[in-house]
Amino acid sequence: MQTSPYTPGTIAHDIIGRDSQIEQIQQQLALLATFPRFMGRIEVYVGSRGVGKTSLLRRAQHYAEELGFHTVWVTAGDSPFIAEVIASLQKYMHGWTSQAAKALKVMLQSLSVSIAGISFHGAGVGEETKSAHNVDGIATGGLGRQLQEVLEKASEAAKAQKKKGLAIFIDEIQAADTQGLRAFAYAWQHMQSEAKELPMIAMTAGLSHTQDVITDAVSFAERFRYVHLDNLSAEDSREVIERLAMNKNVRWEEQAVAKALSHAGGYPYFLQLIGDLAWEYAGNPDPGAMVLETHVDKALVDFQTSRDAFFRARWMKASEKEIELMIAIASHKQQPVKRSDVAAQLGVPTSAISMARRSLMDKGLIESTAHGYMEFTAPGFAQYIRTMAGTE
Ligand SMILES: Nc1ncnc2c1ncn2[C@@H]1O[C@H](COP(=O)(O)OP(=O)(O)OP(=O)(O)O)[C@@H](O)[C@H]1O
Ligand SMILES: [Mg+2]
Repeated sequence: MQTSPYTPGTIAHDIIGRDSQIEQIQQQLALLATFPRFMGRIEVYVGSRGVGKTSLLRRAQHYAEELGFHTVWVTAGDSPFIAEVIASLQKYMHGWTSQAAKALKVMLQSLSVSIAGISFHGAGVGEETKSAHNVDGIATGGLGRQLQEVLEKASEAAKAQKKKGLAIFIDEIQAADTQGLRAFAYAWQHMQSEAKELPMIAMTAGLSHTQDVITDAVSFAERFRYVHLDNLSAEDSREVIERLAMNKNVRWEEQAVAKALSHAGGYPYFLQLIGDLAWEYAGNPDPGAMVLETHVDKALVDFQTSRDAFFRARWMKASEKEIELMIAIASHKQQPVKRSDVAAQLGVPTSAISMARRSLMDKGLIESTAHGYMEFTAPGFAQYIRTMAGTE
């Protein structure tokens, strides 16, 4: 009896099909470890829900740690973005006693007060945002400047701990508030010229429309470089199923793999889920045993149930307008669909669907694959909606 090598719903330890991205991450970090400097460009790994962004970013963090960087992990979304950054820095610096670390703690405290002030004076937020827009980040500059000082000090503090530098990882960056994103971009932009020698790097991940969010929010948007993560190819999908089992000396019958692949549609989360269920039906196989087609057949029944629950949760949380738009998109058997076609079908101008479209993107349900087109992110969701809407 062996525990399952599959990881549905948790980060992948064995990352398959991302060799070129991993190689690039390794090279970039290794270069920075050898030639310490400020890395002005910010990498953004983008892709739909469940495609493997967090897994890749955690791997990058792991490499950075191995190379001797001090790493800070921030998940955007729950509270103001800068508050998340402060909390992460405080957590990771805990126990550091150098002069720089002491100074940093004082600065973090003062930045917390600034943020509390901004959130406290409710009306001030609008003004701050407006003027930041007008004068290219001067108002945000107050916060941006402070964040810059904090990050510079954090990098010094990391060096005092004999670290190679500071590596910041930001997940779900599309969920960061505008003001926080602006302050961060401002700080980064200024460090590029004012702190060139400080070894620092930021790597981030977000949903597919992250580029729209960042471009709308910041004026130094060209600093960000987007790397798209897609569903896995048939070959890589096969490797997820087979390699993870092989690591435990278990093989899959050919028909069993073929069936699993045809239901997963290259979607990493579904591959892991089917793999995991089949493993269980195979009796948590010992080394030398096999996963058979009959195991997969049983697994697929459970898979459909849990996939439908996954879809139902998304469907139930949608607003009326979102549902209307989803039904219209799903009515096209051929995906992606043209935005203008869907609007015409609903009898409204394209602008009338833009809010629902954006909120579906924020939830990770649809994405825009090419300009003016959209499609569902999870394989099988369109079919599910057609059934729910009674159009099929
Ligand atoms: N390259 C990969 N190879 C194998 N499995 C993977 C890979 N990437 C992700 N997975 C698996 O897919 C699922 C989703 O991974 P992960 O949480 O990293 O995705 P995500 O893009 O961050 O999702 P979300 O948008 O929901 O945050 C997990 O079950 C994970 O184990
Ligand atoms: Mg994630």
